[in-house]
Amino acid sequence: PDVPALRSALLAWFDVSGRDLPWRRGQEGAREPYRVWIAEILLQQTQVVRGLVYYDRFLTTFPDVHALAAAPESDVLKAWEGCGYYARARNLRRAAQIVAQNGFPDTHAGWLALPGVGPYTAAAVSSLAFGEARAVNDGNVRRVLSRLYGERQPTEAWVQVRADALLDSRRPGAWNEAIMDLGATVCTPRSPRCGVCPLAPFCAAYASGQAETYPAPKVR
Ligand code: ADE
Repeated sequence: PDVPALRSALLAWFDVSGRDLPWRRGQEGAREPYRVWIAEILLQQTQVVRGLVYYDRFLTTFPDVHALAAAPESDVLKAWEGCGYYARARNLRRAAQIVAQNGFPDTHAGWLALPGVGPYTAAAVSSLAFGEARAVNDGNVRRVLSRLYGERQPTEAWVQVRADALLDSRRPGAWNEAIMDLGATVCTPRSPRCGVCPLAPFCAAYASGQAETYPAPKVR
């Protein structure tokens, strides 16, 4: 595809149609790391719409990293109720204690070193909150890229290579959020809304007339 044109099309769509989510307040590429971090950990459990309730509740209970670090573990687990995977909440509290001492890491590598932070979260926080050029790779990104390139069985490695190559390094945070929003609201699994998709002119699956058949169901 014409990558510069594709980037412009997706970012222009995002600027108009991106979702208004609570951790997106603040300047692009310089969002509050605490808010972005909590959102990204939480959203690994649950879809955005459902996760918003938990997000607000958690942020009200623990408005900043110092509040989280100082809380007894039982309070953190209580605030996490309904979100599943209590190991995530335990790791969050342990990481908060490290951050309360040392400050927030400002690089991808620094984030990866925190308990409970894997490649996805490190890429998301370092791009959204620090403007670092790191491509996120989640289920939405996988589906969007599978369709865009007409690759029915994208491997993890394939997705990462494509995601890295497409990332707009001038606006890495917006780029990552744009792909995730597109996957969640337009390039959906069953009935993609190709008629309103800014990437349709670039999309191999759309050209095939069978966008919804990409990617193929994972074989177990
Ligand atoms: N899903 C997980 N994190 C997200 C984000 N930052 N924006 C949109 N969808 C998401």
